[in-house]
Amino acid sequence: MITYKAGKQPDSREYRLIFKNVDREGWDPSIDCYLRDGGYEDLKKALGMEPKAITEEVKKAGLRGRGGAGFPTGLKWTFIPPNNTKPVYLICNCDESEPGTFKDRYIVHQDPHQLVEGMVISCFAVGAKVAYIYIREEFPEAALILERAIQEAREKNFVGPNVLGSGFDVEIYVHRGAAAYICGEETGLIESLEGKRAYPRIKPPYFPAALGLYMCPTIVNNVESLCHVKHIVRMTGEEYAKLGVKNNTGTRILCVSGDVKKPGYFEVEVGKVTMRELLYDMCGGPKDGREFKAVIPGGSSAKILRCDEKFNLKNPDGTTRELSFWDIPMDFDSLAACGSMAGSGGVIVMDNTRKMSWVLNNLNTFYAHESCGQCTPCREGSMWMKKISDRIVAGEASPKDVATLESVAYQIDGRTICAFGEASSWPVEAIIAKFREELLADTNAANEAVPQNPETEAQ
Ligand code: NAI
Ligand code: SF4
Repeated sequence: MITYKAGKQPDSREYRLIFKNVDREGWDPSIDCYLRDGGYEDLKKALGMEPKAITEEVKKAGLRGRGGAGFPTGLKWTFIPPNNTKPVYLICNCDESEPGTFKDRYIVHQDPHQLVEGMVISCFAVGAKVAYIYIREEFPEAALILERAIQEAREKNFVGPNVLGSGFDVEIYVHRGAAAYICGEETGLIESLEGKRAYPRIKPPYFPAALGLYMCPTIVNNVESLCHVKHIVRMTGEEYAKLGVKNNTGTRILCVSGDVKKPGYFEVEVGKVTMRELLYDMCGGPKDGREFKAVIPGGSSAKILRCDEKFNLKNPDGTTRELSFWDIPMDFDSLAACGSMAGSGGVIVMDNTRKMSWVLNNLNTFYAHESCGQCTPCREGSMWMKKISDRIVAGEASPKDVATLESVAYQIDGRTICAFGEASSWPVEAIIAKFREELLADTNAANEAVPQNPETEAQ
């Protein structure tokens, strides 16, 4: 058993805030253990504050959503219409379905009361009396842990009517998901929670903060984001913002999987660790006798980066500077400037034994299976992309197929109801752009000579 404590870890680049209790000696997920460690003290402090003041602290902290989009959490909370007379809901998105991401389940398993406390504070701040934790079907143990934690919190009056005598009532329900990736898209999630098929809604007008669950204002936040709220209340927004770098504050959990010696989760100050430090110092480097080849830095939807890439970035004064892949700081803005994204923090590493046609096909198979089918470019396009990459992997594709694949991806991008369309097309666009020669080498050039269907040719 490793012993951790809060804050900067000795002999490590980790900074543990959300994961401070994870793998901690003597720690268990019960409320007694949580209370012994000062649990629910941040809730007591929050209940003594004005709800709007909590939102202000979250804004000052600069917290950006940890689910994937990196949208400012405090700003999202202010989108609830000011003259609203309808009930307000808070939904914790615990659907964690982005390939390469495995942090939220771990938070729930090891420290469920951190989430419950963060949720009660957030409900108080946004004026929600009912909150839901939408948890993916594939996390049955985590759902039980949460139900137990909420019951324990209810028995101590941290949840329920008149929380700690404050006059504030709140109830939290655990809702098990429908076992589909699209249930994690916030409007698909809301449809599913309403008992319907998880078809995403068109945004705008259906931004949940204004028109969400039952057409009432609804705040949807990720598990990790909600946990940060309690730390912001304790530390103050100003102190929290000293962690990390400008516009990319606080800590975040990176989940590293794939071809490294020591995969796992690492909580770091945002932007304070570079790709080199993460993959070599924290993850032990490549497996023996191999070399790093490519990295998907933020869950499968993020565009792939080559390890030998160099980027020309703009400085604030208009000049440019060169940044190598290895020097990219792991933060929202830097990864976006390099054409990818920090996303959900799932860092997927590939070494020189991986064939890119296989990687591409793996991703295409996932997205073709998970498309909800509501819009044509995504439903048909994701299936065509999979069929073409099936052929490439089987050595039955012609070089023309690579061009067709690229064209299909660009025709999906930007033409769909939800971001899933882009999520399925970006990996294809990026892998073809960066590994075209390798993919072409996997095709059967002789197929070019095979006569085309005359009817198709004539069109
Ligand atoms: P988005 O950028 O459309 O929205 C982000 C958030 O800001 C949403 O809550 C949205 O309602 C809110 N928002 C944005 N503009 C707004 C406005 N004008 N008014 C009111 N609210 C506004 O991104 P989205 O589609 O919510 O998330 C996409 C990301 O989710 C992807 O980047 C992907 O990385 C990630 N993802 C994560 C998963 C996981 O397992 N953690 C699973 C699937 C995707
Ligand atoms: Fe469904 Fe794909 Fe359209 Fe999203 S983009 S609504 S997942 S078909």
